[in-house]
Amino acid sequence: MTAMQNVSLGSRYAVHLPAPDDFAFWRERARGLVQCDVPPDRVSWIEPGGTGDLFAEGPSRGDKRLPVPPADAPPVRASQRFLTVARSAALHSDPARFGLLYRVLWRLQRNPRLMEDKADPEVRRLEELAKSVRRDAHKMHAFVRFREVAEEDGTPHFVAWFEPDHHIVRAEAAFFMRRFANMRWSILTPHGSVHWDGETMREGPPARREDAPCGDPVEALWRSYYASIFNPARLKVSAMLSEMPKKYWKNLPEAELIPQLIAGAQAREAAMVAAGARAERARPASLAEVAQGIAACRDCPIADCGTRAVAGEGPQQAALMIVGEQPGDQEDIAGRPFVGPAGQLLDDYLAHAGIDRTAAYVTNAVKHFKFAWKGKQRLHQSPTAKEIDTCRWWLDAERAIIRPRIVLALGASAARGLLGRTVSVTRERGRAIPLDDGGELWVTVHPSYLLRLEGEAREAQAALFAENLAAVRERLGEV
Ligand code: URA
Repeated sequence: MTAMQNVSLGSRYAVHLPAPDDFAFWRERARGLVQCDVPPDRVSWIEPGGTGDLFAEGPSRGDKRLPVPPADAPPVRASQRFLTVARSAALHSDPARFGLLYRVLWRLQRNPRLMEDKADPEVRRLEELAKSVRRDAHKMHAFVRFREVAEEDGTPHFVAWFEPDHHIVRAEAAFFMRRFANMRWSILTPHGSVHWDGETMREGPPARREDAPCGDPVEALWRSYYASIFNPARLKVSAMLSEMPKKYWKNLPEAELIPQLIAGAQAREAAMVAAGARAERARPASLAEVAQGIAACRDCPIADCGTRAVAGEGPQQAALMIVGEQPGDQEDIAGRPFVGPAGQLLDDYLAHAGIDRTAAYVTNAVKHFKFAWKGKQRLHQSPTAKEIDTCRWWLDAERAIIRPRIVLALGASAARGLLGRTVSVTRERGRAIPLDDGGELWVTVHPSYLLRLEGEAREAQAALFAENLAAVRERLGEV
């Protein structure tokens, strides 16, 4: 049977691509259609979510109705140049790209040197698409900025937000996998997300900007690095704008610095004064001074997030200091720590363990509520390691005033606030860790972790939590 016998005269075909970046799928279907001699004007290439061709054979999801090439069909010709350009162009956001690719492939069968004809409008368009995709990929390599988020178990997780122009995220994930092979990271985009856990890559749904954290430790470092290498004497604003277009600025910590760096030395001087002010700030002598200090503190971006700073509460002579992560929605409104659902659960477990909450000093590693809006709801966002480390100055001040014999850290953020390093709660829980002031630290999970669990997992963790609190109670009786 010849190729022509296999195709009904005048048939139109609709090919549904499983994903907008599936070049391999396009290539295989295009090869079959060329072998069946189906001209380009009789094929519609439809991306997921795209509308079909009313007159086509199909809808052909699964391509049941596509013609099958005869066994003796001649091989399809495609130059190396075409394949290289096509692979990039297929990732462009232009909905007409797959049709264009097929037209050029079709014409290549008659004119194998077509790709060398730089004046040909279709070749030129294909090259333009490929170039624009390569540029987008280059921008992604250059402008993805990871922000660190501490996981429940203390493992650092780096999350980045990026808005590509084209469907490049899956293709470029391999670049980040190679470069950050040992890190746990996620890249979130409006079209989909990729997650690497150090071993496997996972794809996830589209994300929103608010799903990614804003501001972090790496950022401060990056900002100072950028400021230190910025040379105003060599500044060419138009060249800089073409290399770093303004649309990427909102995700780049260093971009914040550009206007002031351009403006000159004045801003640098102001930044130095601000940094120096902290070093010179006197350590508070009372809890009231701590409360005043945190209310005025602007050392990190969370300070502008919530309604107010939430100070710790409890007696100044407390033998036990309980440290949470950061105030939640209800704490932010009430201005008191642990009054929301996690606080109520904590109260129950403390009472069960025989620990009097009113005799303890209860505070948080971070004093402001960090959240992202979801509709009208304020959703908790974990503080970054940098934010915890910045707020540590206040936690240390509280400890210096109270001098508790025992400090109980609820969760990894609290433990980091106290020790200044990443702590694995699973490894460290349930035993005393000596502190520099002679006290001891006990680490357990955060009650909100229990609230997120269900069934047997919750029961098991709740039992361990109760056990950890009982150990603290016993130790309080001893020391
Ligand atoms: N979670 C915390 O870590 N602290 C609070 O004060 C409330 C919830």
